[in-house]
Amino acid sequence: MNKIKIYLITFLFCFLTKFAIAGEGMWLPFLLNSLNESEMKAMGMKMSAEDIYSVNKGSLKDAIAHFGGGCTSEIISNQGLLLTNHHCGYGYIQRYSSLENNYLDDGFWAMNRDEEIPAEGLTITLVSRMEDVTEAIFKGIKKKTTSDQRQIIIDANIEKVKAGYQLGEFEKLIIKPFFKGNQYIAIITVDYNDVRLVGAPPTSIGAYGKDTDNWVWPRHSGDFSLFRIYADANNNPADYSPDNKPYTPKHFLPISMDGVEEGDFTLIFGFPGRTNEYLSASAVTQIKDVIDPIRIGIRDESIRVMDSYMKSDPKIKIQYASKQARISNGWKKWQGEILGLNKSNAVGKKKAYEAEFMEQVNSKRKWKKEYKNVISEIDALYKELEPLAAVREYYNEVFYRNLELFRLVNSAIRISNTFDKEGEEAAKKRMARLKGALPGFFKDYQKKIDMEIFAAIMEKYDKNVPEEYHPGYYKNEKNSSGGDFNIMAKRLFDASIFGSEESLSKFLEVPPNMLHEVLNADLTYQMSTAFAEMYNEKVAPKYDAIREKLDDLEGQYMKAQMEVFPEKRFYPDANSTLRVHYGNVEGYEPKDAVRYHNLSYLKGVVEKHVDGDYEFDAPDKLLELYETKDYGPYGENGKMPVCFIGSNHTTGGNSGSPAIDANGNLIGLNFDRAWEGTMSDINYDRSICRNIMVDIRYVLFITDKFAGAKHLVDEMKLVHPKNKK
Ligand code: ARG
Ligand code: GLU
Repeated sequence: MNKIKIYLITFLFCFLTKFAIAGEGMWLPFLLNSLNESEMKAMGMKMSAEDIYSVNKGSLKDAIAHFGGGCTSEIISNQGLLLTNHHCGYGYIQRYSSLENNYLDDGFWAMNRDEEIPAEGLTITLVSRMEDVTEAIFKGIKKKTTSDQRQIIIDANIEKVKAGYQLGEFEKLIIKPFFKGNQYIAIITVDYNDVRLVGAPPTSIGAYGKDTDNWVWPRHSGDFSLFRIYADANNNPADYSPDNKPYTPKHFLPISMDGVEEGDFTLIFGFPGRTNEYLSASAVTQIKDVIDPIRIGIRDESIRVMDSYMKSDPKIKIQYASKQARISNGWKKWQGEILGLNKSNAVGKKKAYEAEFMEQVNSKRKWKKEYKNVISEIDALYKELEPLAAVREYYNEVFYRNLELFRLVNSAIRISNTFDKEGEEAAKKRMARLKGALPGFFKDYQKKIDMEIFAAIMEKYDKNVPEEYHPGYYKNEKNSSGGDFNIMAKRLFDASIFGSEESLSKFLEVPPNMLHEVLNADLTYQMSTAFAEMYNEKVAPKYDAIREKLDDLEGQYMKAQMEVFPEKRFYPDANSTLRVHYGNVEGYEPKDAVRYHNLSYLKGVVEKHVDGDYEFDAPDKLLELYETKDYGPYGENGKMPVCFIGSNHTTGGNSGSPAIDANGNLIGLNFDRAWEGTMSDINYDRSICRNIMVDIRYVLFITDKFAGAKHLVDEMKLVHPKNKK
């Protein structure tokens, strides 16, 4: 081999192993550097970084909104029309549904402004600007500063910087750490609280294929819903008022009618929640071999119980739709994650990377002195953490994530703590608030389901968690129940004040100084406190201390990686802040001899359709539209596109994010990732990691042709960037 060839191969190898590769990454929109920009252009982008994020003029970022702090949404008309996923609007669609007005089953469409439904409690957040404040936050930190002192200095500096900031009347400021505490960024936002539900397709379109298709390609759901932001007469944020007007945005996204093809540039713009791309091999091993399996095991039980009731009772199907979707979404994703991490040999790759890292570290005295032990110390701490992390996961799944009654108990505990700390008035306020929330809670609550889940997951805890973490109170209860968990559930739930709306309402009327006494007499409260005390005594102190050391070391490891691989481009892990993800429309090969296309069609909806099925029963009207090929201007060559995939590196929180074309037009709506690549939160691999988007033409088709809400399409701006008219 000649020298050039060797050089090229080495370069390619480095490129593949060490560098963020095109497609990978979630970048800060205000720090898109020239490297990003030239890469994006090479991938097909026709805009400049300034078109994406600017403080001087309206730019794409002005159309992107955080939706209720979890999902993403985007403004698609000059009248504040807001697009997000069906599963993001789900809670609201469900809340305003009843057996008579069943918006989940039948869809909801406001045919005029008066019919729009105020979505109480929903906040939409726009980003005014972002600024790097690292220097000011690190002021006063020296080489010799210990990590405890360091945190004290940082906290003080954050307060100082916050106090010195000039904010507009409605602006809020938050300062967040990036790169595991190696960079600090100020984010200035504005909240809007008058937001109204405008439209949603029936669940049989919005979540077509439900759990079977969730996290899977090929996909055929129209996962979208529409809302509208309202503002006061001066276009400023305001609480709900019938006098408010639709918000006029600085920018809204035009909509491309020209569709997508393989290789087209795609930009996802949104608020990714949490990723962990720079973990050690030991941490990844723990996630896939310990943490994920515990969560999956517990949820196997919850889902089994909920499904059995939902399938046979239409009322329960509505009541539990949202809860079931939330529990099963994580459950399925973690299974895909384990699969992908194993199949892609993520741990092996991490180990190779760590070896390379150590080689670099050992090549320089300064690095050697500072970083020689960072990985081995991290590894040792993960080992120490493991048994505690396992108990913690069981405890959280049982008492915080899967049982509803215990959510109420936890609220009551917070109220009694408030009484202890802040006194009578504060406690009274919280009691009134909880009382107000009770009808909403009990409207969708079935004690028998909760009890059955309790029995099943408590038994799992009993079998799998070492006895030293079984509180005495629990052991007594188990004895009194003769070791039968259904009997235990009955004993606890039937006698509890938390078991019915009446008894709980009464409880919330007692004078706050009696709270302790009444609570102490309640069995579910006693059970919950017994576990909390056990956790706080035997798990939390050790777990938190190790975690704190780990956070510190992982921060050092992050810093070290950036130092010893200066040619590698790093992007910060997701932390619910605004990011740009760029990639291409791209099919993939999930396994040998199988090739996935990038686009799905209405034909696939019909192929999957099963009359009366729980997940795949497409509405008759949709089947008719397919028969008559009545696609209006939204179809393409006699076919109706539904979903497409790309190589954008997305995660939870990117639901509802716009997929934007090379010129800044909306082409799709992000809502999921493909099964083989759900591990991308930990290990992105361009060959199999794909995000899934609804084709925007399907959104328009459903709104206009299916729902007859063409007035909504009329308020959007439709464009033809490819001149395909
Ligand atoms: N998997 C997607 C996400 O993480 C869609 C979830 C909604 N659908 C569902 N069946 N739960 O949010
Ligand atoms: N469905 C996810 C969400 O709610 C997005 C899919 C993902 O995790 O990538 O944000």
